[in-house]
Amino acid sequence: MCGIVGYLGGKDATDVLVHGLSKLEYRGYDSAGIAVPEDGKITIVKTKGRLKNLAEKLETEPAHGHLGIGHTRWATHGEPSDVNSHPHCSNNDRISVVHNGIIENYMEIKSWLADKGYTFLSETDTEVIPNLVDHYFDGCLLEAVINATQRLKGSYALGVISLDDPDKIIAVRKDSPLIIGLGENESFIASDVPAILNYTREVVYLDDMEFAEITGSGIKYYNANLEPVEKSATTITWNADSAEKGGFDHFTIKEIHEQPKALRDTMTSRIVAGQKVKLDDITITKEMLESYSRIYIVACGTAYNAGVVGKTAIESLAKIPVEVDVASEFRYRDPIIDSRTLLIVISQSGETADTLAVLRDSKKKGARVIAITNVVGSSVAREATDVFYTWAGPEIGVASTKAYLTMLIAVYTIALHFAELLGTMTDEETDVIKKEMLLLPDKVSKVIEQKENIQKFALKIHGEKDVFFIGRGLDYAVAIEAALKLKELTYIHADAYPGGELKHGPIALIEKNTSVLASLTQRSLMDKMHSNLKEVTSRGAKVMVVTYESNKTVDSFVDTAVHIPETIDLLAPVLAVVPMQLLSYYVCSFKGLDVDKPRNLAKSVTVE
Ligand code: F6R
Repeated sequence: MCGIVGYLGGKDATDVLVHGLSKLEYRGYDSAGIAVPEDGKITIVKTKGRLKNLAEKLETEPAHGHLGIGHTRWATHGEPSDVNSHPHCSNNDRISVVHNGIIENYMEIKSWLADKGYTFLSETDTEVIPNLVDHYFDGCLLEAVINATQRLKGSYALGVISLDDPDKIIAVRKDSPLIIGLGENESFIASDVPAILNYTREVVYLDDMEFAEITGSGIKYYNANLEPVEKSATTITWNADSAEKGGFDHFTIKEIHEQPKALRDTMTSRIVAGQKVKLDDITITKEMLESYSRIYIVACGTAYNAGVVGKTAIESLAKIPVEVDVASEFRYRDPIIDSRTLLIVISQSGETADTLAVLRDSKKKGARVIAITNVVGSSVAREATDVFYTWAGPEIGVASTKAYLTMLIAVYTIALHFAELLGTMTDEETDVIKKEMLLLPDKVSKVIEQKENIQKFALKIHGEKDVFFIGRGLDYAVAIEAALKLKELTYIHADAYPGGELKHGPIALIEKNTSVLASLTQRSLMDKMHSNLKEVTSRGAKVMVVTYESNKTVDSFVDTAVHIPETIDLLAPVLAVVPMQLLSYYVCSFKGLDVDKPRNLAKSVTVE
């Protein structure tokens, strides 16, 4: 899980590469480096740590040229260090490579190359690649890269340059994202669009095992048999500003504020009051739906938490039983999958390794797969049978916020669609939900307006070591997402429990001043949650509650009550999670932590 860039054109390559890497730091920030050929040698400047370390190093060790490759790393093999940083070079310093992914058989290749006299400096899996390319090199870099990739097992997006087939970049991908940017007399490669958006909006998405040969006279695409492949460009329509902070201190808070717009975008053209749900990209018929014996929703992290809401939505609206599971568990538990299985995978990035593995395995066994993803052209999107794009725009903050809310809209929309196909609800009933969904963006804005209240509670708890979240029904789904947000943004230990489970163990942890946060939106469970809150306040807990405007009962016995606009209970997670996101953001800011890039995390988890 890393970011790679490449440039060939009239500008100073170093400037373009460093700029591109600054837009990809969310993919990893353990180290950064560039390789630029100049005066008959490849100048490599790389260093451990954030990109600013590289920028500083480049002041004393400048590199100039019209072509180069660059990398920002999230360590998988080998600790973050200068020597493990990319780009890596062949022993003879004539071939250089940047890599995103994992080479699973690198040990075997390493010993094979060692027998041939190659030596290795780093602990990385990547270092075998330039040496393997060098081994196969016979004047044509493209052919050498094709031959080398035949030997590689695992995932990779590669940018490769050589002094002996100069003025050329070879790019290839397998199971890791890679795009080609088309400029005026200049070309780019990148792991993601923001890296090149300053220069071009014309983008080609490489498919697995497609090779791009980039030269000054244009780009040619080939398959692994060296046969030409036709590729067409896509124009990026979203604004460069949406990949920038736009006046906010951090991407995360900007993305929290973007949620009303993201929700509107997700619903655009799909949810219209008085009309059936429109899901052009999901071609499942009533007959197909009736033929499925089971639906699985599978995902990781925040996307899994959205899946928990999806289970309730599909079961209560379409009356189909749904199982929800985390991808890393599901893939190894030998689940029952056949042609009567419908799998829904949820992945913001569309590149999460475990989720992708579940998708592939289930397809092989005959399942139909619907992907819910935010990234157009991502692996999950390309490989699923049907796709629901969330249209949330780029999410740069590592902690997922707007992507989560739009995933909720996706699962509600799919549930409504299934209900309409199966006739489990009347038009009047589905219309009530659609009208209420269309009101959610404005209601989210109202919740965000309460940020000062939330900020005050954040100040009270920012020194805590443990925080507990409770909820029942869909409020438990909010609690697990809220606890994940607090953990990853603030490094405070946070646990979520169903309210009814407290007395079965967790209540032993509650004492004077323990922080407890609760979501109370499920009307049929309100009284029971009030009792659960009394159980913790009577033991001295500090409590913040998120509940409807109409529920004033709690105000008298909790520290902070955040009142959210009324909505249908099924849709309440969309509103109830927002104060929890803001709380985690403010606690993180009070603690002076890195909001957009929490330690040890990366935005796109393309390894197991
Ligand atoms: C948490 C977070 C992660 C991701 C998880 C899955 O804020 O962002 O838990 O949700 O890594 O990522 P995607 O959705 O890209 O598959």
